[in-house]
This record gives sequence, C-alpha cells and structure tokens, in this order.
Amino acid sequence: MSLPYFEINGGPRLRGKVRVGGAKNAALPIMAATILCEGEVLLHDVPDVADVASLGELLMKLGVNVDRRGDGTLRLVARDEMNCRAEYDIVRKMRASICVLGPLVAKRHMAQVSMPGGCAIGDRPVDIHIRALKNLGAEIELIGGDIIAKAKRLRGREMFLGGPFGSTVLGTGNAMMAASLAEGTTVIEMAACEPEVVDLANFLNRCGASITGQGTPRVVVEGVKELHGCEYTIIPDRIEAGTFMVASAITNGEVTIENCRLDHLMAFVDRLAAIGVNVEKAPEGGAVVSSARRLEPVDVTTQPFPGFPTDLQAQMMALLCLAEGNSIITEKIFPDRYLHVAELNRMGARLRKEGPTVIVEGVKRLVGAPVMASDLRASAALVLAGLAARGTTRIHRVYHLDRGYARFDEKLRALGADIQRKEGDEVL
Ligand code: EPU
Repeated sequence: MSLPYFEINGGPRLRGKVRVGGAKNAALPIMAATILCEGEVLLHDVPDVADVASLGELLMKLGVNVDRRGDGTLRLVARDEMNCRAEYDIVRKMRASICVLGPLVAKRHMAQVSMPGGCAIGDRPVDIHIRALKNLGAEIELIGGDIIAKAKRLRGREMFLGGPFGSTVLGTGNAMMAASLAEGTTVIEMAACEPEVVDLANFLNRCGASITGQGTPRVVVEGVKELHGCEYTIIPDRIEAGTFMVASAITNGEVTIENCRLDHLMAFVDRLAAIGVNVEKAPEGGAVVSSARRLEPVDVTTQPFPGFPTDLQAQMMALLCLAEGNSIITEKIFPDRYLHVAELNRMGARLRKEGPTVIVEGVKRLVGAPVMASDLRASAALVLAGLAARGTTRIHRVYHLDRGYARFDEKLRALGADIQRKEGDEVL
C-alpha cells in the first residue's frame, strides 16, 4: 500500500523564524462546546490538522455546521437536530471525540457515545468522565460498547475529579461544559489546570457561562439557562512550540518561535536550561532558542500542569539521546507511552525501559534508519532524531503526525531542514 512517509537527511542547523499555530488540544473541546451554543461561533487560529477535521466531521453528523475559512477561522453553528450518537468508527480514530458527551447530555438531554478503546499510548479509561456526569444527575448505561447518557436537567454538585494519577484534562472539560447548563452551582475539586482547560473555560465564559477558578484545582461553575455564540482566538500550541524548541536545540541551531507562550512551558524550559539550551524571550514576543555545544544529561518526570507535559516526553527523549551522560525519564501520566524507544534504538540511541522509566545513555551521534511512527508525539520525536542523525532517516506512518502538527515538514524546511514528504510502499 502506498502511504506518505518522510525522508530526512540529518545535519543542517536550523535557523530562522517559525510561527506556532493554535493549540489542537484547546481547539478540540472548544469545538465540541459549540453544541451548547445558540448562534454563530467564530474560532480563530484553529490548526489545520487531521484531528480537527475528524471532530468537524463528527460535529456535522451531530448537527453542527462547520465551515473552515481560508484564514484559519472555523465558523460553527449548531442546528436544532437530534442526532446524539457518536459512533465507534470516529471515536476509534480520535479519542477526543469523548468531549461531545458532556455537551450532548446538557443541551440535548441524551448522548450515545462509543467507548474509546485503548490506544498506542496505553489504556485510556473514561470512568471519571462518566462519574462527573453521574454526579450532575445523568443516568448512564453501558450497552454494546456505547455510553448512553440521559438527563432531563442536570443539577450542579460538588465533585472530586481526581484519579490515582492526578487530574484529567478532557474529564474536567466535559464536567465544565455539562455544568455550564446545569441548574445551580457545581464545584469541581482536583480539576485539571492545563492551559487548554483554562482556554475552554474562557471560551465558555465568552458565550455567557459563569466559570471561576480555571487554572486552579478548584473550579466553580454557576449554571446558566443558555449559551450564545461568540468570536474567540485559540491559545498557541505549547506542544508544537516545545517541539520546535527541541528541533532548534538538537541541530545546534537558532530558531525564533513566534506565537509562543513561555508561561505555558515553564517546566519544559527549566529542563532545557538544565541541559544547556538557551531559551530567551524574543523582543516582539515568542522565544529564541539556541543550543550549547555540550548537552548535559537531566532527569525528567512528566506530571500534570504546571509540571513537565507528557506530550513533550518523546521529543525530550530524542534530545537527551545526544547528551553527555545518563538521563532518567519517568512517565507519570501514561506509563506505557514509550513506543518511540525501540525506534530511537534503531537509530543508535541507547535506551533501556524499566517499567514507567527509561534510562537514556547519551551517545555521540544518531544514525539515519527506516523507522515507524506509532503515535503523534512519538512521530515528532523520530523527526527530531532524524534532523540530527547522520545519513537518511525514513519515517513511515506519518499520518500519526498529521493528526496534530500542521505542515510540520514545510515549517521545518523553511528553517533549513532537509525533509521531504514522499509516497511509497512501506518497507521496513
Ligand atoms: N484517566 C483515567 N480515567 C479517566 C480519564 C483519565 O484514569 O476517566 C487517566 C488517564 O489514563 C491518564 C490520566 O488520567 O493516566 C490523564 O489523562 P487525561 O484524561 O488528562 O488525558 P486526556 O484528557 O484524555 C489530554 C490530551 C492528551 C494529553 C493528556 C494529558 C487532548 C485531546 N488530549 O488527553 O494529548 O496527553 O491530556 O495531558 O486534549 C496528544 O496531544 O498527543 C495527547 C495525547
């Protein structure tokens, strides 16, 4: 079967400016939230990535008109239709489809959403999403692999949304969206504090919701009767920004990253500084990233925000492969999110996985090889490794990358990388 792949000739030092797009993980729940709104919603800076297109398709089926304008703006208008079913075909492709659950129950009083299964980054249960909606008074059954939720009117309540690992990002989103149209006050304890959750709350408030405490573990939602449309700009994608920071550092380059919020990347920038990578605020906003000759090894543990993001773990591992000494990476959000380890080892890395931890023994150089992308962030890590490797790296299954990075190859090429998107048979 002919599929797109990337061919990278490693070596060129990246230089120049790159603009980061709007955050995929903010755009997806905000798009789902438009189910709650009466009237037109205009969303600016929605990234042109496959996951956004998939959710757009699902929303169309659920009765929301979705049009993309050339300037990156999405126009969404909810119709009065009663299709409340998100089928397995689409949920299987994109787990974030679960964020239509809360809005459908709150607005249409009924939702049938296929249970997302596991994925390449491990088991991904949705028990807390279900708990949140039950707390608000929804009746929930699991039938034939579907979650069926019904409620005449949701009622606000106090609820604890933590799990053994910490908080849940989309679970908090679902609870906030549903509580916005519930009767009375909802208090969410152990809410996720990620910037994407804050962006969703800010969007809902712009539509007439009453949410306070976003960005802290205690979020309070006063239910309102209805939400209206609005115009809103999605926050910059901190994970795309972090990925370009590593691209600059791993090629010993100097890249200015525009539309980048350093306050959303403090733990990541702290680790980069410890490695010897220089990250400075650019005079006109954004950041300039330049690298030291020698990369120091560091230890990294992924954690909920403001800790080190799991979505940058794979990219950081690619960089640490080239540090002078041993680093330890521990994954506390998705303990199995390590499919890139075997692929990086194919490129000459020395990585050893011990449970949720990987010991990274720094090597002098990586060597180009054919490798297989397995999930979105793992694919990005392989591209980064390829940029620094000696020789040619072919990365197969780049459709994983296209789910969350818009024109990644083009943006890298504009910075001087030797990367081509090609089509061909998958040979490994
Ligand atoms: N969890 C449960 N039960 C639940 C929900 C989550 O046990 O009901 C566990 C998960 O298994 C995991 C932890 O809670 O161990 C945190 O998962 P979370 O719910 O926060 O993840 P998510 O909301 O499903 C979002 C992002 C992910 C990102 C995580 C963590 C979107 C669309 N996805 O997922 O992004 O890794 O938060 O920050 O926002 C990516 O962009 O590559 C990506 C995977």
